[in-house]
This record gives sequence, structure tokens and C-alpha cells, in this order.
Amino acid sequence: MFPSRRHLLLCVTFITLSLLLLLLATPDWYRPVRPMQPSRPPGRSPSSIDRDTGRTVGSGGGQRVRDGKQGARPAGSRPTVRRGKGSAAAAGGAPCPSGLFTTISAHGRLGNKLCEYATLWTLQRDDPRARPAWILPEMQRALSPLFGKLPLPTLPQSCVKSESHFLKVKYSKFDQMASAKRRRPILISDYPCDAKRFHKYRDTILRQLTFRDSVHQEAQRRLRQSTDALCDGLPPCTYIGVHVRRTDYRTAVRRMYKGTLVGERYLTRALQLCRRRYRRPVFVVSSDDLSWVRRRLRGPDIVIAGSGGAGSAERDLALLAQCNHTVMTHGTYGFWAAYLAQGDVFAPTGFGARDSFLSAAMGQTDLNITMVPAF
Ligand SMILES: *[C@@H]1O[C@H](CO)[C@@H](O)[C@H](O)[C@H]1NC(C)=O
Ligand SMILES: *[C@@H]1O[C@H](CO)[C@@H](O)[C@H](O)[C@H]1NC(C)=O
Repeated sequence: MFPSRRHLLLCVTFITLSLLLLLLATPDWYRPVRPMQPSRPPGRSPSSIDRDTGRTVGSGGGQRVRDGKQGARPAGSRPTVRRGKGSAAAAGGAPCPSGLFTTISAHGRLGNKLCEYATLWTLQRDDPRARPAWILPEMQRALSPLFGKLPLPTLPQSCVKSESHFLKVKYSKFDQMASAKRRRPILISDYPCDAKRFHKYRDTILRQLTFRDSVHQEAQRRLRQSTDALCDGLPPCTYIGVHVRRTDYRTAVRRMYKGTLVGERYLTRALQLCRRRYRRPVFVVSSDDLSWVRRRLRGPDIVIAGSGGAGSAERDLALLAQCNHTVMTHGTYGFWAAYLAQGDVFAPTGFGARDSFLSAAMGQTDLNITMVPAF
């Protein structure tokens, strides 16, 4: 029995060894397993390949071209490209636009930024030399929480590290700039607010600056909550947004207009005009100086609704924009509250050596603007 048992063992070992050798010698054996993976949904495998190496789509892509199904494949491969770029951007390597382009500073607060955005959009709309136009990441960060996606593309942060990258140009000088100077991308670096010019495209601009649903709904809720007690029953209230700009604008008014901030007198007058003109007016007041308006603006039809605190400028702009008409005082923020509300506008006159360039610009538009003496 012993020898035969050993024989058997030898036999088994031999067979096992030869099988193993056969396996090792023909790695082709495993090949059929591999193509199984690419035969998964086409969108998936290339993206994982792409993320690993960045450029392995070749094998799959080659197969695709051979398949000749170009109609279906590019759709599958497009997300690959997008994902690849996304990861590159995360690593700070998103490509900068090649060739010349125009951008605009994102100086100032919300009102300024809206002016700058609308001015740039209009410039590139009117003047092919300003195309393509890109917005700075700072602009995008400020505006997109309110309005969602804007049509002008955003420059990757890595492309704006150095201002020397740009040729800084004043907005008023853009038109006359010699084409020879346009060797670098252009940064319009003052704070332009060309209301007269962008008003030509009012409908388009307003469509671009449509509040996100969530922002709109929250603003409507706030408007109703703050005026519920006053606006019970019929007829419906006429909501008048009142923006009272104070604090640091005192120096701006002195510097730019050799003037003084409008105060109680102006507001009393403007509100009185509204009471005469509209049915059942309710005044929804927002300000950068809430304690001042609380002390000075009182009445059964006045609600101090401004929120103060973090993010209040954005939330209050959305609130004022829900109103039917606007009483503004100074500055671009009040202008935008009025522009977005799309109703009648009350603005001060005679608070300085000249009126705000905004009311001058608005006077040349078809907005129903009533100039109210400041003092
Ligand atoms: C006035 O504003 C309120 C609140 O946004 C709105 O519901 C109402 O339709 C507006 N009225 C008119 C006449 O536009
Ligand atoms: C514009 O303002 C005037 C008062 O100056 C007012 O009588 C008129 O109704 C307003 N027009 C519109 C379309 O609201």
C-alpha cells in the first residue's frame, strides 16, 4: 500500500505543479476577467481611471472611437473631463483663461459689487473689445448666495494672485484705450456704476439678478411677519421699502458731494408723499444704523424690519426688494433696493453741492423717480 500511496502523492503534486506552471505561463488566462470591468456603465470606469492617473482614458477612448458610437460616447466622457478639472482646481491648478479678457474690481460692499457686476456685463454686451469678460472670485462669492449662477464666468483664484497680471484701467478710459495697450487682461479698477448704460438692458439684468428661491421665500416670510399686525384684512397694504444709510457714509457724502447725510426732515417728507400717493402704505425700514431709525422713525405705519448682524445686508436687500416702492437715502445699496423692487423711487435732492450721480442717472431712465428736498 505504501508505495502506491507515495505514487499517488507524486502524481497529485505533479499535476498541481504543471497546472500552476500553465497558469503562470499564460497570463492571458486572466485577460477575459479584465474587460469585464470596462463593460460596466461607460460613464463610470473612465472617471475612475482619470482620477487615478489623469490620462488613462486612452484605452477606453480608443475602443470607443473604434466602436464608432461617437453620438453616445462623448456624453459619457464629458463628465470625465469635468471631474478631472474639478480635482485640478481643488489642487489650485485650474487653468486661467488663455488670451485677453476683461474683468472688474469687486471693491466695496454689496451695492458697489452689484454696480460693478452690471457695469461689466453691459460693457461686454456693448463692446466686443471687452469680451470675454470674467468676474473675480470675490464677486462670485458675494453675489452667488443671493442670485445663484451668474452668466459671466468666474476666474479661478489662482489666476488673480497678482494684480500685475492685469492692466488697470479706469472705466471712463476704457473706450479711448488704444488697442496697442491691450496686451494684458484688463482690470477695471475704479468703482463704476453706469446705471444709465445698464438700464438699457434692465430686463436682462433683472433676470440675472433674480433671487434664489430660498432667499426670496425667506424675504417674503420676513415681510409678512413684520407687517402682519398692520396689514390684516383688505385692501392690501402697499409696501414701501425705506433704506436709511448713515454711519460711515457721513464722510462719503462730505467728500463726494460736499454735503450732509439726509435725516428726519427728508424721511418725514418722503413718507408723507407716500401716504398721499398710495393706498394703505406700510413702511418697511432697514438701515445700517438701526438705533438711529428706532429713535427717529416712529408711527403706526412704520416697521423697523432691518435685521442687523451677520449677513444682514444681503437679507435686508432681499426684504427691501419685495416691497412695492422704495424710499432711498444715499448710496448704491439703496439704489439696488429700488432697482430690484421695480416700483416708484423717492430720492433726496439738495443734500450737497450736487445730487448723487445715481439719481442723475436714474433721472435719465424711465424709472418713476420723485426727487424730495433733503432739508
Ligand atoms: C406689493 O408687494 C407685495 C409683497 O411683495 C406683493 O405680494 C404684491 O403683489 C405687490 N403689489 C403690487 C400691486 O405689485
Ligand atoms: C409716477 O409718479 C407720479 C407722481 O409723480 C404718479 O402720479 C404716477 O402714478 C406714477 N406712475 C406710475 C406708473 O406709477
